[in-house]
Amino acid sequence: MSVAKRKDAHIEKCLNDPDIDRRDSGFGDIELVHRALPELDFDQVDTSITFLGKKLSFPFMLSAMTGGTSNQTITINRNQAQAAEECKVALAVGSQRVMFEDKKAEKSFKLREFAPSVPLIANLGAVQLNYGFGLEECRKAVKVLDADALFLHLNPLQEVIQHEGDRNFAYLADKIKSIRAKLEVPLMIKETGCGMSRDDYQLLINCGIKYIDVAGRGGTSWSRIEHLCNKDESNLGLAFQDWGLTTAESLEEAEPFMDKLFLIAGGGIRSGIDLAKAMGLGASMGSAALPFLKAALESKYEVVKLIEEYREQFKIALFLTGNKDVRMNNDKHRNR
Ligand SMILES: Cc1cc2nc3c(=O)[nH]c(=O)nc-3n(C[C@H](O)[C@H](O)[C@H](O)COP(=O)(O)O)c2cc1C
Repeated sequence: MSVAKRKDAHIEKCLNDPDIDRRDSGFGDIELVHRALPELDFDQVDTSITFLGKKLSFPFMLSAMTGGTSNQTITINRNQAQAAEECKVALAVGSQRVMFEDKKAEKSFKLREFAPSVPLIANLGAVQLNYGFGLEECRKAVKVLDADALFLHLNPLQEVIQHEGDRNFAYLADKIKSIRAKLEVPLMIKETGCGMSRDDYQLLINCGIKYIDVAGRGGTSWSRIEHLCNKDESNLGLAFQDWGLTTAESLEEAEPFMDKLFLIAGGGIRSGIDLAKAMGLGASMGSAALPFLKAALESKYEVVKLIEEYREQFKIALFLTGNKDVRMNNDKHRNR
């Protein structure tokens, strides 16, 4: 199956199987400590941050989803880009590998005209560095999007479950380190729904990486998606559908390295309250993908509406925990 066709099949499964979203990223067990006397004027609460040198209205990124040749991928990316611009949030695109297989797919990644002022993040699979990709392809991905940074995504579970997946993840850290040293924009790393552990953070810090989207377990399950796409009779994809560290656990694993990392909490962030909890655990920003898929297929306005919901909830959570800005204090949460 071509990369473009596979991307469309993923979207179809995500839209039609409600259990793709596992709805348990660990935030149910975390409570932000309520302040009855917050000593703040709600209207003065400042949710803004600066990310990659650009001001965002709150610490949020529309996470990587798609790109390709079909009308639906073009629609999704453009609606997301226009909404990101209107709401002043960041946008990461889906894997750009597809445009190296079919040049026509570049069109779906030409988004700068729709989002002139916000951070746009390019995207390739890190494992492709073991399958012929290198600095040239990374630069090309950045150039087509006119991106502020590049994500290399890590998806070892998805690749082993996928029929004919790219399974050689050996010696990738050295290759990541070398790309990081030469690329003109920041190199960022993301998982895709299984989270990150202490050893991963240490390895990535050794590679010179600062920006990491932990993309933990509890939201979108790629193992389940691949199971559905492959008509996997062995049920392998189902056996691993809840594999990994939750997003909350992934943030806790990063505790020793907080001063060296800019952590993005992705994976099952389903509200501005989840985002506030993630920030309470040390994240500098949050991201979400699946909740925005249906909205992005409909219109820019549906995406804007959803982003605004997240932002309002986040602002209220800051207010109710006595935080006048996003520098949340770690002792302002407790596990239930
Ligand atoms: C339809 C869809 C397509 C995705 N495609 C990509 C991709 O191409 N590259 C990538 O790095 N992550 C991809 N992801 C993973 C997301 O960026 C995100 O890390 C993950 O879904 C966890 O966030 P969520 O629970 O909010 O969906 C995709 C997610 C969805 C739902």
